[in-house]
Amino acid sequence: MTPSPKSFRVKSFGCQMNVYDGERMAELLGAEGMVAAAEGADADLVVLNTCHIREKAADRAYSDVGRLRRADGSKPIIALAGCVAQAEGEEAKRRSKMIDLVVGPQAYHRLPEMVAEVVGGKRPVDTDMPAISKFDVLPVRQRSGPSAFLTVQEGCDKFCTYCVVPSTRGAEVSRPAGDIVTEARALVDGGAREITLLGQNVNAWANETQGLDGLIRTLAGIEGLERIRYTTSHPTDMTDALIAAHADVPKLMPYLHLPVQSGSDRILKAMNRSHSVASYFATIDKVRAARPDIAISGDFIVGFPGETEENFADTLRIVDAVRYAAAYSFKYSPRPGTPAATMSDQVPAAVMDERLQRLQARLAEHSTAFNRATVGKATTILIDRRGRLPGQMIGKTPWLQSVFVETNAKIGDMIEVITVSALPNSLGGVLATAKAA
Ligand code: 5AD
Ligand code: SF4
Repeated sequence: MTPSPKSFRVKSFGCQMNVYDGERMAELLGAEGMVAAAEGADADLVVLNTCHIREKAADRAYSDVGRLRRADGSKPIIALAGCVAQAEGEEAKRRSKMIDLVVGPQAYHRLPEMVAEVVGGKRPVDTDMPAISKFDVLPVRQRSGPSAFLTVQEGCDKFCTYCVVPSTRGAEVSRPAGDIVTEARALVDGGAREITLLGQNVNAWANETQGLDGLIRTLAGIEGLERIRYTTSHPTDMTDALIAAHADVPKLMPYLHLPVQSGSDRILKAMNRSHSVASYFATIDKVRAARPDIAISGDFIVGFPGETEENFADTLRIVDAVRYAAAYSFKYSPRPGTPAATMSDQVPAAVMDERLQRLQARLAEHSTAFNRATVGKATTILIDRRGRLPGQMIGKTPWLQSVFVETNAKIGDMIEVITVSALPNSLGGVLATAKAA
């Protein structure tokens, strides 16, 4: 017999929505009387909250399961959660005998009862996408760090030909505005000063009367909430109303993550992206007209099936034209069940490697230039963690740059700094008061 677990650990991989789900699972287990195991300590229950987006991420789930075997041959109760769990279901139990339960992203509110079934000798699997929303049964949010995630929308109806998300997260669903506002208030009461609204297609959030812009305007009325962000947006859902919010909602931060994936219309068509290079540029122009200082970030895939050197050169051109402040770039990874996985003209790994290196070098030039342009300027940072050096703290600018600064301010404080140095992914700063003195 497996004894009932007293301690747990949740390890999340992949996107910010997984981080959010991981927090909610931890709160749920906490509400059941279990305690979070301290860093490095043994846990009776380990939840691996996995990502299926690329092959490497998915394979990692199984090697992580294997590593949970203890030196004495015993093991914790192992819950496979997240998108690999959703994609593999029963198959996961065959692939690893160590896995005790499998729970998908829409069913994790059932985690406590599934753990009880494991204690009773079963190996339950739940990858349902039930009509009852997990959000209705999860415990109320209580404590929060200064910067919190809040899922407002899940799933995707866009069906990009490379992407597993429609099958792991289901169809597009928007949470009710009232529930979101209640959760946001609870997060602010629990210590949050910044909230990032999450969705696979967050800018597709809508109800009968309003779109994401309306929701943002409502949330901006919450006292104590200083900063609002949202991610990830699809270019075709970037409405004029949402763009206008960037001009006139001061709490909405000047940052937009707007993945383009490729700079070639032929490849965008093969990806089923439903936007062109020209329509993407038109959107960026409107966004910059509304908020000239906005930082634009993006996602890129190199080596999509059929991508020629000329198509890749078009991607470098779009990078130069947009001047991304930050970006994430990946080699194309064929995913089971997606249309692109069986397309002809798969690009050889060595070609992908070489293109990724060139793309990342170009992206780093632009992010460094973006950061350099802020040197010497004063800005407000929200401190969210400690640095490695004594007395060093790290906080985020409105443009989501990390600033390292020596200060005795605390996590959650918002302080004025002047940036003094720039790297591709961070800035050095000094206290504005220190510089003046
Ligand atoms: N291969 C490589 N990258 C992918 N992404 C999504 N699916 C794949 C895939 N099959 C990237 C896209 C997306 C980001 C979250 O991951 O750039 O925007
Ligand atoms: Fe990974 Fe996508 Fe699932 Fe997030 S939604 S965990 S990125 S597969």
